[in-house]
Amino acid sequence: MSKPRILVARAIFPDIVDRLREHFDVEDNPADAIWTPHELAARLADKDGALTTGSQRIDAALLAAAPRLKICANMAVGYNNFDVDAMTSAGVQGTNTPDVLTETTADFGFALLMATARRMTESEHYLRAGKWTKWSYDMFAGSDIHGSTLGIIGMGRIGQGIARRGAHGFGMKVVYHNRSRLSPALEAECKATYVGKEELLRTADHVVLVVPYSAASHHTIGAAELALMKPTATLINIARGGIVDDAALAVVLRDRRIAAAGLDVFEGEPSVHPDLLTVPNVVLTPHIASATVPTRRAMANLAADNLIAFLGGQGPLTPVNQ
Ligand code: DGY
Repeated sequence: MSKPRILVARAIFPDIVDRLREHFDVEDNPADAIWTPHELAARLADKDGALTTGSQRIDAALLAAAPRLKICANMAVGYNNFDVDAMTSAGVQGTNTPDVLTETTADFGFALLMATARRMTESEHYLRAGKWTKWSYDMFAGSDIHGSTLGIIGMGRIGQGIARRGAHGFGMKVVYHNRSRLSPALEAECKATYVGKEELLRTADHVVLVVPYSAASHHTIGAAELALMKPTATLINIARGGIVDDAALAVVLRDRRIAAAGLDVFEGEPSVHPDLLTVPNVVLTPHIASATVPTRRAMANLAADNLIAFLGGQGPLTPVNQ
């Protein structure tokens, strides 16, 4: 009997592709080409499954060109690149990679918060440019992390990880806003207090965004929300581009209406709004919050396991549609 055919749409760890070859007839992309939707559709025309990343849009037009496709296993916890309704209508299973990246991503969120509040990249650029000639009392004076108020918007697994780091590690007061409240036990464990979004924005010294992207969360932070924040506050986005109105953010950063921002994700990435590139008080990283070798391997392995389980006749391990 011939093996099911799968596409590995982006370059991943070669040994994990080899593992997939034990189960499937694999077309992979070791050169890591970025295919157009048309090129992707052509490659999916004869495939039973695909290992995707956030950079492949799986929508009705693509699914119409992929009549054999039964599963798309995303190597990401976020799956806003999937049109889940269109996939469900076409009978295509979607899966993601929750849990395996939670702590790594929370580490990064906290690192970005600290780099932003303590002006690390701005001061490093100054030093590298040979501008450091003397100590001065206010040189790159930033804001404190310990004892400050941490506001988390989106209190899923990663948000909870950031809350624990802030409350237990740095003595921060943690407030959060989420679609639903955590259980009293989880609130106690995270030492986190539920508040309305407006109160959070008005009171937090550091606002961290960890909400999934959807039409409903588009521009969760725009000009009106930024106007509520303290002039000394920082804003950290490790969720998705599109959660923040980047153009509006660049204006408030330029005018110092908030102190600083740390951004790992961008509207239209890998393009970055040009105004963000010209303001000094923003730390910019290229969507690397989950990027440690063990975690990226765990994500790729979980995506592979979903393909092996599902196309092998078992249920998906981490489904996003039912
Ligand atoms: C995720 O898992 O959703 C990340 O953003 C991809 O690295």
